[in-house]
Amino acid sequence: MTTVLSNMLSNTSSNTLSNTLSSATSTAPSNALHTNSLHTNSLQTNSLHTNSLHTNAQKVPVITRVSDDIGGCAFFELVTTANHCRLLVKLEQNNPTGSVKIRMAKQMVDEAESSGLLKPGGWIVESTSGNTGVALALIAAERGYRFTAVVDNHAAQDKIRMMRALGAEVICISAAGDEELATAARDETAAELAKNYGAVWTAQHHNPANSRGYYPMAEEIYATLGDGLTHLVGAVGTGGSLCGTAKALKHKGARPQIIGVEPEGSIIFGGPGKAYLQSGTGTPEGAEIGQLIEYDLIDKGLKVTDQYAFLTARILAKRKGLMVGGSAGGVIYQALLELSRAPANSNIVVVICDAGEKYLDTVYNDEWMKKHSLLDDSVTAEIESLLDALERPDQECAAEIHYPELSAIPIFPLAKA
Ligand SMILES: Cc1ncc(COP(=O)(O)O)c(C=O)c1O
Repeated sequence: MTTVLSNMLSNTSSNTLSNTLSSATSTAPSNALHTNSLHTNSLQTNSLHTNSLHTNAQKVPVITRVSDDIGGCAFFELVTTANHCRLLVKLEQNNPTGSVKIRMAKQMVDEAESSGLLKPGGWIVESTSGNTGVALALIAAERGYRFTAVVDNHAAQDKIRMMRALGAEVICISAAGDEELATAARDETAAELAKNYGAVWTAQHHNPANSRGYYPMAEEIYATLGDGLTHLVGAVGTGGSLCGTAKALKHKGARPQIIGVEPEGSIIFGGPGKAYLQSGTGTPEGAEIGQLIEYDLIDKGLKVTDQYAFLTARILAKRKGLMVGGSAGGVIYQALLELSRAPANSNIVVVICDAGEKYLDTVYNDEWMKKHSLLDDSVTAEIESLLDALERPDQECAAEIHYPELSAIPIFPLAKA
């Protein structure tokens, strides 16, 4: 009966589902139907279709604005080692607009409104590599503001398309074909629109509301793990997500090690600067390091190459079904290394900035990866073997994993103030 029912369900579109179920009632042997009854909680079948009809589902909220759906993103236990260390990925890409940045965009607008800076019908401008712009576009659409995003060609095209879809005006300051990150030039344009034309520049690199936007995420992490949280690992661009979360966690009494990750070529944890392709993260040479990066909150600053970041992201998609953005790939790579050295029972939380769907033209595109000489079977095998070693159930102590190749990537432990 189970097979009959699941075959029927798989051949049935959802709007005719209840009709099919009632006809099943009249034709099926009664005892079989009783076992699979939708009114009992005893649905013990392996069929995905029948399981999806379980009636003890949890209630879900009814929301009136898309931004009401911010937060509550699950932790995905990516790896558990034999010595009970866990790598928990906070799936912040499941927020509206597909990134963690919606948290800070909402907070920056809330605070601009409450300080009186932003008036009804007002105009918001931001210099953005993408996710902040998409998030501000959503908040502006909900509240009836005009929003202008100042971008460069470094931004993922899908993020720009999303901003436009949400009603934003997009000003691209790069010349055609120039893919360089141009944070400083973008900021100048945004500042000029604010100074000369009356727009409100949310200035994400200097705006403390950016950091404050992550306090609720810290609450979620603390509520789930409490003092069991041993490490927090995140990308650093403006520093808002990592430092805001770290600050709130420490305020609650948690004492995790705070680890920041930037692209190799970014200058936040030291030079030399050079071009990099990880989008949305780091600070390129020539741009000002944002005031929200609180070095005394960060225990360790690490760098990751584009190659390790992107190949890690691609491996996770194939191996776990988890599609993350390029910066998240780099953060997870460094977190995996950290996991290999962590004492037993560690809980390492990684904050994912965004999902892989925005990078189908780049990170997940073989031709683009080849064009930038980023595909390398030996590096892929190296990352795979790191995952294999961490996941080996007979590993006496994961901390014994020897991983010398990583020394090719410089690490900058910061001098504590
Ligand atoms: C994809 C991506 N990764 C990392 C970051 C860096 O986050 P933060 O600015 O909070 O340091 C951003 C910020 O926009 C981002 O969009």
